[in-house]
This record gives sequence, structure tokens and C-alpha cells, in this order.
Amino acid sequence: MPFIKPAVWSIMDMESLRKDFPTMATDKGVYLDSSCQSLRPQQVIDAVTEYYTKYPACGGRSVHHMSNEVSVRVDETREAFCRFLGGEDPSHFVFTRNTTEALNAVAFGLGLKKGDAVVTTDVEHNSNYVPWLRLRDTVGSTLRHTPSGEDGVFDIEAFKQTMGRDVKVVSVGQVSNVTGCEVPVKEVVEIAHDYGSVVIVDGSQAAPHLSVDLCDMGADFYALSVHKMLGPSGMGVLYGRPGMLEELSLPNYGGGTVGLVTYDSFTVAPVPDRFEAGLQDYAGIIGSKAAVEYLERVGMDNIRRRDSELLEYMMSSVEDVKGLSVVGPSDPSLRRSVFSFNIEGLGAHDVAMMLDSMDGIMIRSGMHCAHSYFDSRGIHGSARASVYLYNNRQDIDRFAAAVKKVAETFGGL
Ligand code: ALA
Repeated sequence: MPFIKPAVWSIMDMESLRKDFPTMATDKGVYLDSSCQSLRPQQVIDAVTEYYTKYPACGGRSVHHMSNEVSVRVDETREAFCRFLGGEDPSHFVFTRNTTEALNAVAFGLGLKKGDAVVTTDVEHNSNYVPWLRLRDTVGSTLRHTPSGEDGVFDIEAFKQTMGRDVKVVSVGQVSNVTGCEVPVKEVVEIAHDYGSVVIVDGSQAAPHLSVDLCDMGADFYALSVHKMLGPSGMGVLYGRPGMLEELSLPNYGGGTVGLVTYDSFTVAPVPDRFEAGLQDYAGIIGSKAAVEYLERVGMDNIRRRDSELLEYMMSSVEDVKGLSVVGPSDPSLRRSVFSFNIEGLGAHDVAMMLDSMDGIMIRSGMHCAHSYFDSRGIHGSARASVYLYNNRQDIDRFAAAVKKVAETFGGL
């Protein structure tokens, strides 16, 4: 079916999407944890089921008709991600299990040396911070972060002050999974490239919610998790600008990553094969194509608009709750799809469990794998509600009513 750019979808159009998500029919709760894992439309579930029923073979190895079917579909998925993310060549898109695996492959593949500096923001997920700490402790690279405002809003002037000729890598999350703040990655790339730095972007909280154009962005590497964007669990993607993946040492060696192997030598397969060691998650790869096509049919501008409308409604619905404090900016226009908050006198996990037991409201709680941000600000974690295209205002009304009840009944005031 030719891809036709969607028109602007109305709220009613977006509401109609809920019927595509079978979980909406099987669970009477309210799912507000899409920043951790999204729900999946029937189209993705059907694609995974079709793999396991019609061609449950391996790709890129056997030459029988089932394996050929799988190999073709793997290539089609790579093409779909290249189209969806504004890439130039499908071979620059590597399948991983998640963003973490993608970021580690780059961090430990770059060959950093003693004295090489790495710059991150001060609001990074552990997967884009701990690898750089490890490299600091093992090869002697240095690590510094660009300070954001008290509410976590990115400060481009502070970033310019943080840069220097010693900076070999700039690695930033495009959208924070805690504050929802967006980093102007194109501007960051331009500044970093002026210093000759390699730029890595953690797109895990951005790619599901806004339009990404990698050629325009100019990032050298981009990582995302498909399971946050309607796709199967355990699926991620690593993108490398032309020539960049070829420069990385490999995370794994073995089947599928090599050309010729003799008793005393081996050659390495071309990109992307060299990064996809062993048999792959073919069900996940094929299901991921269905996820990309679903997002394309809805349109990322419509999804961004819906996220913003729901988040603004959510934050305004609880702004008068006594004892509620916001983690990150209180202005919803500065946040993408993520609302982190605390209720005075209650721990974040207590809030999350009460919301769930009270009305099946499903959110995340804790430090959301962003410990350094919370530690630096002396905050002991947060409750976090995250919205996506399949939520509606009734979901938000139930969330707000439960938050008010928890605060009034158990809050510290
Ligand atoms: N990175 C995922 C989250 O933010 C797990 O919840």
C-alpha cells in the first residue's frame, strides 16, 4: 500500500485508534507508562504471529523459501526504518535489543583513549551515562556534563561553555525520560562538529513521539527502542552516519559477523551484518516494520500534537492538588509526553501502588534509571505518568481523580 502522508487528524480520529490496541479491551485500567514500554496495535501482534505461523525460519543463512521470505522481510524492515527516520541508506541501520545495547556498542567501539573528553547532559539515562563512567575508570577518558537549569531544561549557552578541543564525544538524550525536556540536537551537532567531536543521540524517548530526520539532524549515531514505539519487546535500532559504523570495533564476533574464516584468520562482514551476531529476533524485526507503518499511517505530527494536548490536560488537571510537586518544568510546552511528580509525605512507589490499587492507573515510579539527575538535586525519585497516541481525556480524568484522592487521603498535608 503506497504511503500517503496523513492529513491532520482530529481528536475523534485519534480516539478511533484505541480499537487497534487489544489491551484496551482486556484490561480496565489506565495505561500511562508508555515511556517504559508502549502498548502494541493488533497489526504488530498479527505480524509477529504471522512470522511464527507462516515462516518461522532464520534469515540470511538457509536458502529455502521460508528463509528467503524472512531475509526479504528483514531487508524491508531496514528500509522502513531508513524511510521513517530520514536516513540515506538502509545498511546504516542495525538491529539491537534496545537503546542500551546500541549505546554500549558505540561507546565501547569508538576506541577512546586516555584524556579524550566526553560530554553529556546532566539529565541522562544510566544507559547513556554509566558506559562513559566505565570508560573513564578503565581507559582514562574524562567525563563532564553540561549543566541544565534547576528544572532540567537544556541550556545551550552552558553547553557551549562545556565544550573544548579535548572533547571527542558528545552524547545526549534527545528527550529526557524524567523531565520530558527536549535537547535541540541539530544545534548541538553543529556546535560539536565544529570541535571535531562525534555526536551520539539517545532517541529512545524522542523517536516514538516526534518526527526525526537523521540526514537533517546530522548526528553520527542515533539509538532507539522499538518497544517504546508500538514494536515488539526487545527490539532496538542503532543508526550510524555513512562511514561511522565502519570505524567501530565490534561488540560481538561469530556467526553472521564474518566473511572468510580460516584456522588463523578471519575477515569481517560488511555493515550492518558485522553488528548482528548470531541468529536474530526475526519476529521482533518483522513486527517492528508493522510498528513503523502504523506510526507512518497516523503521522508523527499528529502524534506529537496528541501527546502535547494530553500532557497539557494532565498537568492542568492536577495543578491544584495540595502537596504535589513537579519534577522538571511546570510548563507542559517544555515537556514531551512525560509528567514526573511527587506528593508530599509519600514515597513515589507508594503513590504508584495506590493509584494502581485505587483505579488501575499504571505509571512508573522510582529514579527511572536516571539516578544522577535525582542524586544531584537531592530528590528521592518520582512518580511518572507518560502519555501516548492511544490515551484519551477520560484516561487523564481517572488519573487526576486518583491522584487527588491519594493526596487528600494519604498526603503529608
Ligand atoms: N528507559 C525506560 C523508562 O524510562 C525503561 O522507563
